[in-house]
Amino acid sequence: MDPERAMRRALAAARRQLGRTHPNPTVGAAVFRGDRILAAGATRPVGGAHAEVVAIEAARRRHGDRALRGASLAVTLEPCHHQGRTGPCTQVIRDAGLERVFVGERDPHPRVSGRGLRALRRAGLLVESGVLLEECRWQHRGFVSVIERGRPWVALKLAATLDGRIATASGESRWITGPAARAHVHGLRDRADAVMVGSRTAKADDPSLTVRRAGRRVRCPVRVVVDSRLALPPDRKLVRDRDASRTWLLAAKGRPAARRRALEAHGARVLEVPTRKPGLDLRAALRRLARDGLTSVLVEGGGGLSAALLAAGLVDEVHWYSAPALLGADARAAVGPLGLTHLAGRPRLELLEVRRLGADLYVHGVANPARRSRGPS
Ligand SMILES: NC(=O)c1ccc[n+]([C@@H]2O[C@H](COP(=O)([O-])OP(=O)(O)OC[C@H]3O[C@@H](n4cnc5c(N)ncnc54)[C@H](OP(=O)(O)O)[C@@H]3O)[C@@H](O)[C@H]2O)c1
Repeated sequence: MDPERAMRRALAAARRQLGRTHPNPTVGAAVFRGDRILAAGATRPVGGAHAEVVAIEAARRRHGDRALRGASLAVTLEPCHHQGRTGPCTQVIRDAGLERVFVGERDPHPRVSGRGLRALRRAGLLVESGVLLEECRWQHRGFVSVIERGRPWVALKLAATLDGRIATASGESRWITGPAARAHVHGLRDRADAVMVGSRTAKADDPSLTVRRAGRRVRCPVRVVVDSRLALPPDRKLVRDRDASRTWLLAAKGRPAARRRALEAHGARVLEVPTRKPGLDLRAALRRLARDGLTSVLVEGGGGLSAALLAAGLVDEVHWYSAPALLGADARAAVGPLGLTHLAGRPRLELLEVRRLGADLYVHGVANPARRSRGPS
Protein backbone atom coordinates (compact mmCIF):
# COMPACT_ATOMS: atom_id res chain seq x y z
CA MET A 1 0.00 0.00 0.00
CA ASP A 2 1.07 3.56 -0.64
CA PRO A 3 2.33 4.72 2.78
CA GLU A 4 0.50 8.00 2.24
CA ARG A 5 -2.81 6.14 2.23
CA ALA A 6 -1.97 4.50 5.54
CA MET A 7 -0.85 7.88 6.91
CA ARG A 8 -4.23 9.37 5.98
CA ARG A 9 -5.91 6.66 8.04
CA ALA A 10 -3.57 7.45 10.93
CA LEU A 11 -4.44 11.17 10.63
CA ALA A 12 -8.16 10.39 10.54
CA ALA A 13 -7.89 8.23 13.67
CA ALA A 14 -6.07 11.04 15.49
CA ARG A 15 -8.54 13.69 14.41
CA ARG A 16 -11.25 12.03 16.47
CA GLN A 17 -9.08 12.34 19.58
CA LEU A 18 -8.14 16.02 19.19
CA GLY A 19 -8.74 17.99 22.39
CA ARG A 20 -8.55 14.85 24.54
CA THR A 21 -4.86 14.06 24.91
CA HIS A 22 -3.21 17.23 26.21
CA PRO A 23 -0.49 17.79 27.28
CA ASN A 24 0.43 14.97 24.92
CA PRO A 25 0.21 15.39 21.16
CA THR A 26 -2.74 13.73 19.44
CA VAL A 27 -0.93 11.14 17.35
CA GLY A 28 -2.46 8.65 14.95
CA ALA A 29 -1.08 5.29 13.78
CA ALA A 30 -2.11 2.63 11.28
CA VAL A 31 -0.72 -0.91 10.95
CA PHE A 32 -0.87 -2.22 7.40
CA ARG A 33 0.19 -5.19 5.39
CA GLY A 34 0.09 -5.41 1.64
CA ASP A 35 -3.01 -3.53 0.58
CA ARG A 36 -4.80 -3.95 3.85
CA ILE A 37 -5.04 -1.74 6.94
CA LEU A 38 -4.97 -4.16 9.88
CA ALA A 39 -5.91 -1.53 12.47
CA ALA A 40 -5.63 2.17 13.26
CA GLY A 41 -5.54 4.00 16.57
CA ALA A 42 -4.76 7.26 18.30
CA THR A 43 -3.25 8.52 21.54
CA ARG A 44 -5.42 7.81 24.56
CA PRO A 45 -6.06 10.52 27.18
CA VAL A 46 -3.11 11.31 29.42
CA GLY A 47 -1.71 8.29 31.23
CA GLY A 48 -3.10 6.00 28.53
CA ALA A 49 -1.36 4.23 25.68
CA HIS A 50 0.37 5.98 22.79
CA ALA A 51 -1.07 5.68 19.28
CA GLU A 52 1.43 3.05 18.09
CA VAL A 53 0.54 0.78 21.00
CA VAL A 54 -3.21 1.26 20.48
CA ALA A 55 -2.93 0.39 16.77
CA ILE A 56 -0.60 -2.57 17.29
CA GLU A 57 -2.77 -4.04 20.05
CA ALA A 58 -5.91 -3.61 17.97
CA ALA A 59 -4.23 -5.34 15.00
CA ARG A 60 -3.10 -8.18 17.27
CA ARG A 61 -6.61 -8.63 18.71
CA ARG A 62 -8.20 -8.71 15.27
CA HIS A 63 -5.64 -10.65 13.25
CA GLY A 64 -3.30 -12.40 15.72
CA ASP A 65 0.44 -12.09 16.36
CA ARG A 66 1.50 -13.60 13.09
CA ALA A 67 -0.19 -10.94 10.99
CA LEU A 68 2.05 -8.34 12.62
CA ARG A 69 5.33 -10.05 11.66
CA GLY A 70 6.72 -8.18 8.66
CA ALA A 71 3.87 -5.66 8.62
CA SER A 72 4.30 -1.88 8.34
CA LEU A 73 3.32 1.06 10.50
CA ALA A 74 2.40 4.63 9.57
CA VAL A 75 2.55 7.04 12.50
CA THR A 76 2.01 10.79 12.41
CA LEU A 77 4.77 11.61 14.96
CA GLU A 78 8.14 10.00 15.57
CA PRO A 79 7.75 7.11 18.07
CA CYS A 80 9.16 7.81 21.51
CA HIS A 81 12.32 6.09 22.66
CA HIS A 82 12.21 6.94 26.33
CA GLN A 83 10.71 5.28 29.33
CA GLY A 84 7.71 7.45 30.16
CA ARG A 85 4.46 6.45 31.80
CA THR A 86 3.91 3.94 29.02
CA GLY A 87 7.36 2.56 28.03
CA PRO A 88 9.20 3.25 24.77
CA CYS A 89 7.06 2.80 21.66
CA THR A 90 10.17 1.85 19.67
CA GLN A 91 10.39 -1.31 21.80
CA VAL A 92 6.74 -2.20 21.25
CA ILE A 93 7.21 -1.78 17.49
CA ARG A 94 10.28 -4.05 17.48
CA ASP A 95 8.69 -6.65 19.72
CA ALA A 96 5.67 -6.86 17.42
CA GLY A 97 7.97 -7.80 14.53
CA LEU A 98 7.08 -4.87 12.29
CA GLU A 99 9.55 -4.28 9.47
CA ARG A 100 8.81 -0.86 8.07
CA VAL A 101 7.88 2.38 9.81
CA PHE A 102 6.64 5.50 8.01
CA VAL A 103 6.77 8.62 10.14
CA GLY A 104 5.03 11.93 9.44
CA GLU A 105 6.81 14.46 11.63
CA ARG A 106 10.00 14.09 13.65
CA ASP A 107 9.53 14.84 17.32
CA PRO A 108 9.93 18.64 17.50
CA HIS A 109 11.50 18.45 20.96
CA PRO A 110 15.20 19.17 20.39
CA ARG A 111 16.26 16.76 23.14
CA VAL A 112 14.52 13.74 21.68
CA SER A 113 14.19 14.57 17.99
CA GLY A 114 15.61 11.78 15.83
CA ARG A 115 16.20 9.35 18.68
CA GLY A 116 13.21 7.15 17.92
CA LEU A 117 14.10 7.04 14.23
CA ARG A 118 17.72 6.09 14.99
CA ALA A 119 16.69 3.39 17.46
CA LEU A 120 14.39 1.77 14.91
CA ARG A 121 17.01 1.91 12.17
CA ARG A 122 19.63 0.43 14.51
CA ALA A 123 17.22 -2.42 15.16
CA GLY A 124 17.16 -3.13 11.42
CA LEU A 125 13.78 -1.65 10.53
CA LEU A 126 13.26 0.31 7.36
CA VAL A 127 12.35 3.83 8.39
CA GLU A 128 11.10 6.70 6.28
CA SER A 129 10.32 10.10 7.74
CA GLY A 130 8.43 13.08 6.29
CA VAL A 131 5.41 11.21 4.90
CA LEU A 132 2.59 13.79 4.59
CA LEU A 133 4.75 16.03 6.75
CA GLU A 134 2.68 19.18 6.25
CA GLU A 135 -0.60 17.50 7.20
CA CYS A 136 0.96 15.83 10.24
CA ARG A 137 2.58 19.05 11.42
CA TRP A 138 -0.75 20.84 11.07
CA GLN A 139 -2.49 18.20 13.13
CA HIS A 140 0.16 18.44 15.87
CA ARG A 141 0.24 22.25 15.74
CA GLY A 142 -0.76 22.67 19.38
CA PHE A 143 1.97 20.39 20.64
CA VAL A 144 4.53 21.97 18.30
CA SER A 145 3.48 25.44 19.45
CA VAL A 146 4.08 24.58 23.10
CA ILE A 147 7.52 23.18 22.35
CA GLU A 148 8.64 25.92 19.98
CA ARG A 149 6.94 28.96 21.54
CA GLY A 150 5.99 27.90 25.05
CA ARG A 151 2.32 28.70 24.46
CA PRO A 152 -0.73 26.93 23.05
CA TRP A 153 -1.92 27.33 19.47
CA VAL A 154 -4.58 30.06 19.46
CA ALA A 155 -7.57 29.93 17.12
CA LEU A 156 -9.99 32.84 17.11
CA LYS A 157 -13.66 32.28 16.30
CA LEU A 158 -15.81 35.23 15.33
CA ALA A 159 -19.48 35.15 14.38
CA ALA A 160 -20.43 38.51 12.95
CA THR A 161 -22.57 40.34 10.45
CA LEU A 162 -21.20 41.29 7.04
CA ASP A 163 -20.12 44.61 8.54
CA GLY A 164 -18.20 42.87 11.31
CA ARG A 165 -20.60 43.42 14.24
CA ILE A 166 -21.27 40.88 16.99
CA ALA A 167 -23.97 42.54 19.06
CA THR A 168 -26.32 45.50 18.98
CA ALA A 169 -25.35 48.59 20.96
CA SER A 170 -27.58 47.30 23.78
CA GLY A 171 -25.66 44.02 23.83
CA GLU A 172 -28.14 41.70 22.11
CA SER A 173 -26.09 39.05 20.32
CA ARG A 174 -28.11 35.83 20.11
CA TRP A 175 -28.10 34.65 17.49
CA ILE A 176 -26.12 36.38 14.79
CA THR A 177 -25.48 33.22 12.75
CA GLY A 178 -27.73 30.26 11.97
CA PRO A 179 -27.85 26.64 13.20
CA ALA A 180 -25.35 25.25 10.66
CA ALA A 181 -22.67 27.76 11.69
CA ARG A 182 -23.36 27.16 15.36
CA ALA A 183 -23.10 23.40 14.94
CA HIS A 184 -19.78 23.96 13.17
CA VAL A 185 -18.51 25.96 16.16
CA HIS A 186 -19.39 23.04 18.43
CA GLY A 187 -17.16 20.89 16.21
CA LEU A 188 -14.28 23.35 16.76
CA ARG A 189 -14.88 23.30 20.51
CA ASP A 190 -14.87 19.53 20.45
CA ARG A 191 -11.36 19.48 18.97
CA ALA A 192 -9.88 22.19 21.24
CA ASP A 193 -8.22 21.58 24.59
CA ALA A 194 -9.82 24.76 25.87
CA VAL A 195 -12.27 27.52 24.98
CA MET A 196 -11.53 31.08 26.13
CA VAL A 197 -13.71 34.18 26.53
CA GLY A 198 -13.27 37.68 27.94
CA SER A 199 -14.80 38.53 31.30
CA ARG A 200 -17.49 40.73 29.77
CA THR A 201 -18.72 37.99 27.48
CA ALA A 202 -18.77 35.51 30.36
CA LYS A 203 -20.79 37.95 32.41
CA ALA A 204 -23.15 39.30 29.76
CA ASP A 205 -23.91 36.14 27.77
CA ASP A 206 -23.66 33.58 30.58
CA PRO A 207 -22.42 30.94 28.09
CA SER A 208 -21.87 27.31 29.04
CA LEU A 209 -19.14 26.75 26.38
CA THR A 210 -19.77 23.02 26.34
CA VAL A 211 -19.88 20.89 23.21
CA ARG A 212 -23.47 20.08 22.34
CA ARG A 213 -25.03 18.01 19.59
CA ALA A 214 -28.76 18.24 18.98
CA GLY A 215 -28.99 20.09 22.29
CA ARG A 216 -27.22 17.34 24.24
CA ARG A 217 -23.95 18.00 26.06
CA VAL A 218 -21.29 15.63 24.75
CA ARG A 219 -18.10 17.09 26.19
CA CYS A 220 -16.74 19.98 28.19
CA PRO A 221 -13.39 21.42 27.18
CA VAL A 222 -11.47 23.46 29.75
CA ARG A 223 -13.23 26.86 29.87
CA VAL A 224 -10.91 29.80 30.41
CA VAL A 225 -12.18 33.26 31.40
CA VAL A 226 -9.83 36.23 31.13
CA ASP A 227 -11.03 38.02 34.24
CA SER A 228 -8.26 40.17 35.69
CA ARG A 229 -10.45 41.59 38.46
CA LEU A 230 -11.89 38.18 39.32
CA ALA A 231 -15.32 39.74 39.00
CA LEU A 232 -17.24 36.87 37.40
CA PRO A 233 -20.41 36.52 39.48
CA PRO A 234 -20.51 33.04 41.07
CA ASP A 235 -24.05 32.51 39.79
CA ARG A 236 -22.93 32.17 36.16
CA LYS A 237 -23.20 28.78 34.40
CA LEU A 238 -19.43 28.52 34.07
CA VAL A 239 -19.22 28.38 37.84
CA ARG A 240 -22.53 26.71 38.62
CA ASP A 241 -22.93 23.88 36.15
CA ARG A 242 -21.72 20.30 36.64
CA ASP A 243 -18.49 21.11 34.78
CA ALA A 244 -17.45 23.92 37.14
CA SER A 245 -14.12 22.16 37.79
CA ARG A 246 -13.35 22.65 34.08
CA THR A 247 -13.55 26.45 34.50
CA TRP A 248 -10.23 28.25 34.89
CA LEU A 249 -10.20 31.95 35.70
CA LEU A 250 -7.14 33.97 34.74
CA ALA A 251 -6.80 36.84 37.20
CA ALA A 252 -4.32 39.44 38.37
CA LYS A 253 -2.48 38.79 41.61
CA GLY A 254 -3.89 40.19 44.82
CA ARG A 255 -7.60 39.85 44.10
CA PRO A 256 -9.80 39.69 47.22
CA ALA A 257 -9.49 36.28 48.86
CA ALA A 258 -13.25 36.13 49.54
CA ARG A 259 -14.01 36.45 45.83
CA ARG A 260 -11.53 33.72 45.04
CA ARG A 261 -13.01 31.43 47.69
CA ALA A 262 -16.53 31.98 46.37
CA LEU A 263 -15.48 30.84 42.91
CA GLU A 264 -13.27 28.00 44.09
CA ALA A 265 -16.04 26.71 46.33
CA HIS A 266 -17.83 25.57 43.18
CA GLY A 267 -14.71 23.88 41.81
CA ALA A 268 -13.42 26.63 39.50
CA ARG A 269 -9.65 27.18 39.38
CA VAL A 270 -8.05 30.59 39.71
CA LEU A 271 -4.69 31.09 37.98
CA GLU A 272 -2.74 34.25 38.77
CA VAL A 273 -1.11 36.03 35.86
CA PRO A 274 0.97 39.24 35.64
CA THR A 275 -0.75 42.36 34.33
CA ARG A 276 0.13 44.58 31.44
CA LYS A 277 -2.10 47.47 30.42
CA PRO A 278 -5.03 47.33 29.68
CA GLY A 279 -5.51 44.04 31.52
CA LEU A 280 -3.65 40.80 31.90
CA ASP A 281 -0.38 40.10 30.12
CA LEU A 282 -1.92 37.79 27.54
CA ARG A 283 1.38 36.26 26.44
CA ALA A 284 2.17 35.37 30.05
CA ALA A 285 -1.40 34.07 30.43
CA LEU A 286 -0.98 31.73 27.47
CA ARG A 287 2.39 30.52 28.78
CA ARG A 288 0.72 29.76 32.06
CA LEU A 289 -1.95 27.73 30.27
CA ALA A 290 0.76 25.76 28.44
CA ARG A 291 2.48 25.02 31.75
CA ASP A 292 -0.85 23.67 32.94
CA GLY A 293 -0.98 21.31 29.98
CA LEU A 294 -3.09 23.10 27.36
CA THR A 295 -1.86 22.92 23.78
CA SER A 296 -4.78 24.50 21.87
CA VAL A 297 -7.19 27.27 22.77
CA LEU A 298 -10.27 28.41 20.85
CA VAL A 299 -11.04 32.05 21.66
CA GLU A 300 -14.73 32.92 21.34
CA GLY A 301 -14.64 36.70 21.92
CA GLY A 302 -15.65 39.26 22.73
CA GLY A 303 -14.27 42.12 20.74
CA GLY A 304 -11.96 43.43 23.44
CA LEU A 305 -10.16 40.16 24.04
CA SER A 306 -10.02 39.37 20.31
CA ALA A 307 -8.43 42.73 19.51
CA ALA A 308 -5.91 42.43 22.33
CA LEU A 309 -4.79 39.00 21.16
CA LEU A 310 -4.58 40.13 17.52
CA ALA A 311 -2.65 43.27 18.45
CA ALA A 312 -0.16 41.18 20.42
CA GLY A 313 0.35 38.81 17.48
CA LEU A 314 -1.03 35.93 19.53
CA VAL A 315 -3.65 34.65 17.08
CA ASP A 316 -2.60 31.77 14.84
CA GLU A 317 -5.80 30.81 13.09
CA VAL A 318 -9.16 32.49 12.43
CA HIS A 319 -12.63 30.98 11.95
CA TRP A 320 -14.93 33.77 10.75
CA TYR A 321 -18.66 33.11 10.38
CA SER A 322 -20.36 35.88 8.51
CA ALA A 323 -24.13 36.32 8.58
CA PRO A 324 -25.73 38.03 5.58
CA ALA A 325 -27.02 40.91 7.70
CA LEU A 326 -25.84 44.35 8.79
CA LEU A 327 -25.94 46.02 12.17
CA GLY A 328 -24.26 49.37 11.53
CA ALA A 329 -21.46 51.25 13.22
CA ASP A 330 -23.43 51.82 16.43
CA ALA A 331 -23.37 48.05 17.06
CA ARG A 332 -20.46 46.31 18.81
CA ALA A 333 -17.48 45.39 16.68
CA ALA A 334 -16.29 41.78 16.39
CA VAL A 335 -12.76 43.11 16.82
CA GLY A 336 -12.20 46.08 19.12
CA PRO A 337 -9.71 48.89 18.45
CA LEU A 338 -6.33 47.69 17.23
CA GLY A 339 -4.62 51.08 17.41
CA LEU A 340 -3.10 50.74 13.97
CA THR A 341 -1.46 53.75 12.38
CA HIS A 342 -0.09 52.00 9.33
CA LEU A 343 -1.73 49.51 7.05
CA ALA A 344 1.45 47.47 7.09
CA GLY A 345 0.78 46.48 10.69
CA ARG A 346 -2.62 44.93 10.04
CA PRO A 347 -3.08 41.31 11.03
CA ARG A 348 -3.48 39.30 7.85
CA LEU A 349 -4.77 35.89 6.96
CA GLU A 350 -3.90 33.34 4.41
CA LEU A 351 -7.17 31.73 3.42
CA LEU A 352 -7.49 27.98 3.78
CA GLU A 353 -11.19 27.66 3.11
CA VAL A 354 -14.22 29.76 2.16
CA ARG A 355 -17.65 28.16 1.98
CA ARG A 356 -21.31 28.50 2.68
CA LEU A 357 -22.69 27.09 5.93
CA GLY A 358 -26.47 27.13 5.74
CA ALA A 359 -27.41 30.79 5.28
CA ASP A 360 -23.99 32.01 6.45
CA LEU A 361 -20.49 32.22 5.11
CA TYR A 362 -17.46 30.52 6.68
CA VAL A 363 -13.95 31.87 6.19
CA HIS A 364 -11.02 29.94 7.62
CA GLY A 365 -7.46 31.19 7.56
CA VAL A 366 -4.08 31.16 9.27
CA ALA A 367 -2.91 34.44 10.73
CA ASN A 368 0.40 36.10 9.94
CA PRO A 369 1.11 33.53 7.24
CA ALA A 370 4.54 34.94 6.43
CA ARG A 371 5.72 33.75 9.81
CA ARG A 372 4.56 30.18 9.65
CA SER A 373 3.99 27.33 7.31
CA ARG A 374 0.54 26.94 5.86
CA GLY A 375 -1.74 24.18 7.06
CA PRO A 376 -3.69 21.98 4.72
CA SER A 377 -7.39 22.71 4.26
N1 LIG B 1 -21.74 37.23 18.37
C1 LIG B 1 -20.81 36.57 18.99
O1 LIG B 1 -20.38 35.55 18.49
C2 LIG B 1 -20.22 37.08 20.28
C3 LIG B 1 -19.17 36.34 20.87
C4 LIG B 1 -18.60 36.82 22.03
C5 LIG B 1 -19.05 38.00 22.59
N2 LIG B 1 -20.07 38.69 22.04
C6 LIG B 1 -20.54 39.95 22.64
O2 LIG B 1 -19.43 40.78 22.89
C7 LIG B 1 -19.68 41.57 24.04
C8 LIG B 1 -18.48 41.48 25.00
O3 LIG B 1 -17.32 41.89 24.33
P1 LIG B 1 -16.34 42.94 24.99
O4 LIG B 1 -15.37 43.35 23.97
O5 LIG B 1 -17.14 43.99 25.67
O6 LIG B 1 -15.64 42.13 26.15
P2 LIG B 1 -14.75 40.79 26.20
O7 LIG B 1 -13.76 40.80 25.09
O8 LIG B 1 -15.62 39.63 26.37
O9 LIG B 1 -14.00 40.98 27.57
C9 LIG B 1 -13.09 42.04 27.70
C10 LIG B 1 -12.58 42.04 29.10
O10 LIG B 1 -11.57 41.05 29.25
C11 LIG B 1 -10.74 41.44 30.31
N3 LIG B 1 -9.32 41.46 29.95
C12 LIG B 1 -8.32 41.09 30.78
N4 LIG B 1 -7.14 41.29 30.20
C13 LIG B 1 -7.37 41.80 28.98
C14 LIG B 1 -6.51 42.22 27.94
N5 LIG B 1 -5.18 42.14 28.03
N6 LIG B 1 -7.07 42.73 26.85
C15 LIG B 1 -8.42 42.80 26.72
N7 LIG B 1 -9.29 42.40 27.68
C16 LIG B 1 -8.76 41.91 28.82
C17 LIG B 1 -11.13 42.88 30.68
O11 LIG B 1 -11.97 42.83 31.80
P3 LIG B 1 -11.36 42.77 33.29
O12 LIG B 1 -10.66 44.07 33.49
O13 LIG B 1 -12.54 42.58 34.12
O14 LIG B 1 -10.43 41.63 33.32
C18 LIG B 1 -11.94 43.33 29.49
O15 LIG B 1 -12.89 44.31 29.85
C19 LIG B 1 -20.93 41.04 24.66
O16 LIG B 1 -21.99 41.92 24.33
C20 LIG B 1 -21.17 39.72 23.97
O17 LIG B 1 -22.55 39.43 23.83
C21 LIG B 1 -20.66 38.24 20.87
